[in-house]
Amino acid sequence: MAPHDTPLIAWDDALALDGSAIDRQHKALVDLINQLRGHLGSPDREAQVMQCLTAMYLHAKDHFWDEEAFMERIGYPDKKKHAELHREFVLKLHSLTDCCLTGEAPYAELLDFLVSWFQEHVTTQDVKIVAFAQSQGAG
Ligand SMILES: [Fe+2]
Ligand SMILES: [Fe+2]
Repeated sequence: MAPHDTPLIAWDDALALDGSAIDRQHKALVDLINQLRGHLGSPDREAQVMQCLTAMYLHAKDHFWDEEAFMERIGYPDKKKHAELHREFVLKLHSLTDCCLTGEAPYAELLDFLVSWFQEHVTTQDVKIVAFAQSQGAG
């Protein structure tokens, strides 16, 4: 795990796709993931973590909604498969959040999941939506 003075996920060119609302929403999610790690050292850890996870869940739902509407608008051919990946993320986030609520607190697993899912999803999946939109002149 990275030292606490460096962000878990650095916002860089690999994550910035097209400078649109999608990027702004991704950046907000990156900020929340980075904040989550910061909360682990808080004396009020459980409450801070739950507040952060709730914000992340709401941001993710809004973002997925917007991204799926965008895919629909541009006629993205893999929309259904991509939306399924979003659903899987939400389910996993739910189950890890439940574990935190019941005191199992799998914080390391939670952070690993968020960091790897986000980086992998944006750089291998979301990037394809943006490339398709640009190829259609719809970016
Ligand atoms: Fe996506
Ligand atoms: Fe996305």
